[in-house]
Amino acid sequence: MHILMLAAENGALPGGKVGGIGDVIRDLPRALVARGHRVSVVTPGYGHFSCLPGAQAIAKTALAFGGERHTVTWYRVPSQLPALEYFAVEHPRFNVDGVGKIYHHDSPERPFATDATRFALLCSAVARGLVEQALPRPDVLHLHDWHAALLALLQQHDGSCRSIRDIPSVYSIHNLSLQGIRPLTGDVSSLAAWFPGSSFPLADMVDPRYSDCINPTRAAIRLCGKIHAVSPTYAQEILSPTDTERGFVGGEGLEADLRDAADQGRLVGILNGVDYPDTAHPRLSRQVLFEHALETVVAWRSTEDLRMHHVAIERLEQWLAAPADDAPVLTSVGRLTVQKLGLLLQGLEGHTVLEDLLSRLDDGRLMILGNGDAALEGRLTEIAARVPNLVFLRGFAERLGNDLYSSGDLFLMPSSFEPCGISQMLAMRAGQPCLAHSVGGLRDTIQQGVSGFLFSGATPAEQAANLLTCVDAALAMWRKQPQAWQALREQAAAQRFTWDAAAQRMEEELYVWGGG
Ligand code: GLC
Repeated sequence: MHILMLAAENGALPGGKVGGIGDVIRDLPRALVARGHRVSVVTPGYGHFSCLPGAQAIAKTALAFGGERHTVTWYRVPSQLPALEYFAVEHPRFNVDGVGKIYHHDSPERPFATDATRFALLCSAVARGLVEQALPRPDVLHLHDWHAALLALLQQHDGSCRSIRDIPSVYSIHNLSLQGIRPLTGDVSSLAAWFPGSSFPLADMVDPRYSDCINPTRAAIRLCGKIHAVSPTYAQEILSPTDTERGFVGGEGLEADLRDAADQGRLVGILNGVDYPDTAHPRLSRQVLFEHALETVVAWRSTEDLRMHHVAIERLEQWLAAPADDAPVLTSVGRLTVQKLGLLLQGLEGHTVLEDLLSRLDDGRLMILGNGDAALEGRLTEIAARVPNLVFLRGFAERLGNDLYSSGDLFLMPSSFEPCGISQMLAMRAGQPCLAHSVGGLRDTIQQGVSGFLFSGATPAEQAANLLTCVDAALAMWRKQPQAWQALREQAAAQRFTWDAAAQRMEEELYVWGGG
């Protein structure tokens, strides 16, 4: 079967990954190809993928968008497998923020304004490219998250797309907290501005909460043949409304559409995977782990002279003076977002949950690696400057990420919600048990007391309290029951979340239309 995927990121290309979608688009196509399929992956080129070695312009397509004529150029970018093709589409809009920048960060007053227009152009270009056969016609169109969602609307409701209407489509929900919502009219970034004169049926696309807005995610959920959520638990959670007071993140306004999809047998939860290489990343002594971290931060400081790097360097030098091999090292790796860190940074009687956690570690230490939300980076730096057993490594480096996965004792993932999550699988793969919130993909990958620790709670305050009790229990086991801990490590390392298993379920439950 030939599957054409459309996404904003492709982690297989240098500079092609920002978050978890990049990982999925790097790995899933290869797993499908290994099972005998042909996969084409389309992303914007961002002025960058088209300049990668071996990239070749293959076609140009003219299209109407925003009341003007535009021309986009299609590039084929080399992949390592004959049955896997990467396409990058270029237009000056795709590098508005500078070459290679995937997302634009719009102000909170005009959420998604720039990106919604860029991705509406992407979807228009792909629709046109398919109609004019600049892109190969697939047996299935697989759209990933809101960036690709408008293609479903165009495919079903744009008169010029009749010839591609019958291509079956699948929509993957990676994170419902981002839906790409924009006004219907009255803004340069609105449905009327992108497609002037269009008469798309409102019922399929208007946002259920804001009746003057288009919701691309909703359109895709209503119009695609199959809807895929990235873990079985997340597929259940999104059927219920989000309830902030209870600290529950669910359907984010789209629960009714998702329940319809579930009732119609269109909604499927399939866990993402990770690769299991033959050789494992080595487990490092405390000394070497801290040295690697120090080397990395010193390199970062040489290009960006930030206070957070100075704080981290000072802390790592202190730790190196007394590496404390008999004290636990807790780790956390991931993008710094409210989703991932909100629970740790919430207030608890005048201080944060994170500070409470750090005070319970005694001589134990916590290393946090990642970047993202500037406000969260600031708060972490402020705490790290005061509290001696925290180091905040602000940035990302693959080697250091692998060092933390392989050499930490307990991996923290207290996300308030987690559609799938990848870091916990990488930590487990390296034999590091995880302590995580029992939600979404975390619940589907970690077994309480067997391969890690899970906490839950009926309100954010209860979740925070249970998180702390859970840390106490985990550390007591680490200190007093080395054999039980070893068994936990072995169980974590023995779990298999393979992409082959995910790809097989996709064949059976998503790509169900046959085809050549
Ligand atoms: C999003 C989700 C994450 C998931 C990833 C890939 O980033 O937040 O949980 O693992 O997409 O599907």
